[in-house]
Amino acid sequence: MAIYLDNQATTRVDPAVIAAMMPMMDLYYANPGSTTHEAGRLVGELVNDAIQRIADHFNASSDEIIVTSGATESNNLALFGVAMHPKQKRRSLVSLVTEHRAVLDPIAKLERLGFEVIRLPVVQNGHPEAGIVELDRLANAISDNTALVSIMLANNEIGTLQPIADIAKLCQRFCIPLHTDASQVVGRMPIDVQSLGVDLLSFSAHKFYGPKGMGGLYVRQSPTPVKLQGQILGGGQQLNLRSGTLNSVGIIGMAKALDISHQSFGPEMAAQEHLRNLLWALLNKRIDGLKLNGPNLAAENRSSRLVSNLNVCFPMVEGQSLMLELPGLAVSSGSACTSAEPHPSHVLLGIGLSVDEARSSLRFGIGRFNTEAEILQSAEWLGEAHAKLAHFVA
Ligand SMILES: Cc1ncc(COP(=O)(O)O)c(C=O)c1O
Repeated sequence: MAIYLDNQATTRVDPAVIAAMMPMMDLYYANPGSTTHEAGRLVGELVNDAIQRIADHFNASSDEIIVTSGATESNNLALFGVAMHPKQKRRSLVSLVTEHRAVLDPIAKLERLGFEVIRLPVVQNGHPEAGIVELDRLANAISDNTALVSIMLANNEIGTLQPIADIAKLCQRFCIPLHTDASQVVGRMPIDVQSLGVDLLSFSAHKFYGPKGMGGLYVRQSPTPVKLQGQILGGGQQLNLRSGTLNSVGIIGMAKALDISHQSFGPEMAAQEHLRNLLWALLNKRIDGLKLNGPNLAAENRSSRLVSNLNVCFPMVEGQSLMLELPGLAVSSGSACTSAEPHPSHVLLGIGLSVDEARSSLRFGIGRFNTEAEILQSAEWLGEAHAKLAHFVA
């Protein structure tokens, strides 16, 4: 079995989540929308209870949670839903160059439809807070024509955590709704939408030990409801914002996954930070000239970087070649959705790496099920593979 250090791409489904989902397939399989019979009403109650628990974890109310097929759909709903609302008069969108493709591509489509799009640069690599957006740049970019600001909570490649609460205060001053793609944070750190001040927040169950194809969008209803137009039309479920039979299996799994995360945030974050820092220290012992991509790993910089994330630029050797040498190690050279593409990561280029440096980089994502023994083994394999490949190019 490979050592899995790609927990930013996805996570193993927690056995307790699998156990919670099983009865939804063989016992409670009725349609949660079938209110005409007892079997349907029972599933409806189970689903409502799960959505309430999900909402509680965000300090939101249950009518503010729209369940979706994952963060890609949630981001599409947030961006198109705000931009295409019949009452929308504003024609400008503001985001970052380092966003996930599930934000960048919908925004590019809106640009083709006539919206002005401002893609802000971020702080460059080498700075302790590499990847964050400077607030004065954002302040200059927004205006009373801005329909939406979309800035991710944490970057999926370099782990940069954005100062979302400060960004929200800025947006509130101009009455601009703020969307954040929180896929990398939900289930890894506690999130309170009231103290963050965001209006829309995307999340995805497979990033926190839940099932794939399941996610959600928080949509603020008070004090000012977000004007959102549904994008998937049909049976009118979820207040017409997202039609389709509710995925009762996935919703129960996602709620269970969040319940588990909320019981173990503190110890899990400490354990992952320890393993992440150990990997970085061991790699530095074995390989000269490594460069860290993204924010500083120091404990006092914890609020700027996900504790589970490490992104490393290896001297002289391509990340792809290292991965080919190490079939027993699951890591990645970019985001999972773009890892099949030959292009270097737009995130690494966005923080100022050269094309060669971006190609020589690997991302490591530590998760709940990793052990110290796996980190020791991974560092040893990487050291050996690097020495072998560097020897050929020297
Ligand atoms: C930041 C971010 N946004 C969006 C997505 C897409 O999520 P999903 O796979 O649930 O559609 C991912 C997953 O790779 C992600 O890391």
